Amino acid sequence: IYKWHHSGLNRWHGRGSTADFQKIIQERCDDYTQQIQPGARSRNCQGIKQAFTSAFISKDPCKATKEDYKPLLDLAYTTVPCNKAVFWSKTKELAHEYAKRRGLLTLEDTLLGSLADGLSWCGEPGSPDLNYQSCPDWKKDCRTNYFSVFWEALSERFAENVCGTVQVVLNGSIENAFDKMSIFGRVEAPNLRQMVTLKAWLVHDPGKPPSDSCSGPSIKELESILNQRSVRFICRDNLSRDQFLGSY
Ligand code: APR
Repeated sequence: IYKWHHSGLNRWHGRGSTADFQKIIQERCDDYTQQIQPGARSRNCQGIKQAFTSAFISKDPCKATKEDYKPLLDLAYTTVPCNKAVFWSKTKELAHEYAKRRGLLTLEDTLLGSLADGLSWCGEPGSPDLNYQSCPDWKKDCRTNYFSVFWEALSERFAENVCGTVQVVLNGSIENAFDKMSIFGRVEAPNLRQMVTLKAWLVHDPGKPPSDSCSGPSIKELESILNQRSVRFICRDNLSRDQFLGSY
């Protein structure tokens, strides 16, 4: 017990780093650059893996900053074409299905989003290894952990760079379909550029009545954030999953 505590590796409340993290990053990067973007300029996947790991290795896992990920983003960030971007909040699976069917792109369809999707990672001060036992949990340990800050930094860059009409898939089966504390609410909506049009879809669970609508207070809050930035807003509500996936 004494030794266990002293190693410190098990002290956090979140899932530990994904086994073979670095190997997975390298493989996903090779696949992405070869299959998904053939013809695109070849990417240095070893360098990308290196930039990713050096952002957090040997550092205090609760002291992540956006600057830690700047070298990685500058090296590997990929933009999406105008009119193609899809944001989501509490609708990950649905938004991905929608994007796939329509040839649209979520953050997880970009290079960096696809590398990190579903993985977990953190380091340990003074150690060259990842901590595979535990990583800080956003609620129980610290918000400024390397996992959360990565998604915030990447989401900010994504939102700043989208253009044309972009979409967001929101969950119409919860009370506040727009959650100002979510990444979409805190990071993405406030960083959209002027002249962008955001189209929101409120989709509710099959067999249940919707719990929020385009005229409810949470969507009004989203509208006011967008108004301040001269982002145009369109909203459609009362859609079931099938109506949404089938609609044009
Ligand atoms: N894989 C694992 N975790 C993720 C991923 C991912 N691909 N993307 C985000 N996360 C984490 C973040 O910490 C996020 O807060 O999971 C949480 C998802 O919470 P939700 O409330 O469902 O959604 P939201 O916080 O709004 O984040 C999703 O941010 O990543 C961007 O473009 C993405 O629009 C999307 C939004």
